[in-house]
Amino acid sequence: MPTFSLLLLPGDGIGPEVMVEVERVISLLNKKGKSEFKIQSDLVGGAAIDKYGKPLSDDGLAKAKASDAVIFGAVGGPKWDKVPYEIRPEAGLLRLRKDLDLFANLRPAICYPALAEASSLRREYVEGLDILILRELTGGTYFGEPKEIVTLENGQKRALDTTVYTTSEIERIARVAFDLARKRRNKVHSAEKRNVMRTGVLWNEVVTATHAREAKDVELHHILADACAMQLVRNPKQFDVIVCDNLFGDMLSDEAAMLTGSIGMLPSASLGAPDAKSGKSKALYEPVHGSAPDIAGQGVANPIAAIASYGMALRYSCGLAKEADIIDKAIANTLARGLRTGDIMQPNMRKVGTTEMGSAILEEVEKLLAA
Ligand code: IPM
Ligand code: MG
Repeated sequence: MPTFSLLLLPGDGIGPEVMVEVERVISLLNKKGKSEFKIQSDLVGGAAIDKYGKPLSDDGLAKAKASDAVIFGAVGGPKWDKVPYEIRPEAGLLRLRKDLDLFANLRPAICYPALAEASSLRREYVEGLDILILRELTGGTYFGEPKEIVTLENGQKRALDTTVYTTSEIERIARVAFDLARKRRNKVHSAEKRNVMRTGVLWNEVVTATHAREAKDVELHHILADACAMQLVRNPKQFDVIVCDNLFGDMLSDEAAMLTGSIGMLPSASLGAPDAKSGKSKALYEPVHGSAPDIAGQGVANPIAAIASYGMALRYSCGLAKEADIIDKAIANTLARGLRTGDIMQPNMRKVGTTEMGSAILEEVEKLLAA
């Protein structure tokens, strides 16, 4: 029986609550499925700061490196607003991304038919929406050096972030974009700011060259990142895969998430390059939503994004496409039954909490596994 090792990092806020629901789905697959998942857990973010004095322990990092996939909850909250910048909760997540070299961040934005009314855009714009934001995740403004605040002689302060990309960093993410597009609707939009930024000029150049050399079969469009933000709300269905740098990807993916009705719905995958020997890629899966401290501990958080993130792990790290499809279908069926957590509540639907939503999805998974 194929065995997979998973590291669960629930983190802060609603992270632990939604992770409980993920664990229930994992247990069910362990019982009923054809593979075995071995689970370890550790602290990350504020929870790790409280225990270890830093947002990710070295042991936690080592476990992440050794696992087939990391399933991540969320980090951060007002309790840690005052901790030093270097050890803030988010630094734990950034360290995982960087040290595991998870350069390819897949953020699908899919509008479930049952939720078309929950979007802030009219149904006709979002119904059937299925786009994929591919965000470069280990370079650009997030990690460029220098990154500092210095005090000037006149007493003023000056803050500096550096946006930096090399040819090979752009090439490898472009390649992933073309590969993903081939399995979808074969279209890539590359978004940058070549009209203002040197990194945008190089980005455009390298994507164009990679396309000409390796991916002429894929339709490629270049779009300025600001225009892309605008087109995402004007006519989102024109897009298939959007590839962009780390910072633009952060913003465009939040925008795309909202088109689908709730950011509480969306999973993401962060993947490294396949290992030369084993062919396996390091991987981390996380809901796009944050720790939502305002509703944490109340049992009302939406577990769908976290469960769907585990679904992505099945697809991309375990080669279990059938099981991944079952999870997606179970979520769609549960929504079609009219169950809604508060964030996606609509008239005439039944409002449920985290556990009840998890139980309903579990039931659907069980039915679909048996079918
Ligand atoms: C995301 C988040 C993170 C980011 C934060 C939590 C550091 O917003 O994954 O989009 O900015 O990348
Ligand atoms: Mg973000």
